[in-house]
Amino acid sequence: MEKQETNRQITWHSMDITRQRREEMLHQKAVTAWLTGLSGSGKSTLANALEQQLAAKGRHTMLLDGDNVRFGLNKDLGFSPKDRVENIRRIAEVAKLFNDAGLIVLTSFISPYRRDREAARGIIGDAFLEVYVSTPLAECERRDVKGLYQKARKGEIAEFTGITSAYEEPVHPDITIDTSGRRIEDCAAELLELIEKKVKERSAG
Ligand code: ADX
Repeated sequence: MEKQETNRQITWHSMDITRQRREEMLHQKAVTAWLTGLSGSGKSTLANALEQQLAAKGRHTMLLDGDNVRFGLNKDLGFSPKDRVENIRRIAEVAKLFNDAGLIVLTSFISPYRRDREAARGIIGDAFLEVYVSTPLAECERRDVKGLYQKARKGEIAEFTGITSAYEEPVHPDITIDTSGRRIEDCAAELLELIEKKVKERSAG
């Protein structure tokens, strides 16, 4: 790939050890399963269970999680629309880098805006799978694992997704999973099947 930005004096360097080489070494194809859904919908729990199932099958993975990434890479970002856009852009670039390393990437971010998820798809390309964790707001609020919905209802958190900030549902997700009343392992197994299908498809193509 030849890329150049003359105004910034930067040129893309192509390296000899390519994504394809790395995928061959790991005996898999890179995929990014992009989990999107409300806070408390079960994204992190699901991604964690899924990663365990992938590891048990000998798959090489990396999990990027909303709260965790905000402790490090994205510690400078808050929850304004502008910061959320940048949050998702960086995650998509990082997911792509891990895909370049040949890994199966699971991302777990609210990623509330359709446009940003489409931008992530654009960055990640064919490896991208959109996973809508569709657990309804009422159930997320009933769980309120972190007590944030209660705070948001009292007006103690500004721009809280689902309450005072929008969540735009995916239009054509690759899979939709409502975790209400279901065993998380069963939800993860459903997702595992989709990922394995994608890996096979990519191996064939
Ligand atoms: S995103 O909207 O930019 O994709 P991200 O997934 O990184 O969000 O972070 C969401 C987590 O941050 C939530 O699970 C919750 O613990 C915490 N959080 C703190 N403030 C907010 C807020 N205003 N809206 C949503 N989540 C918040």
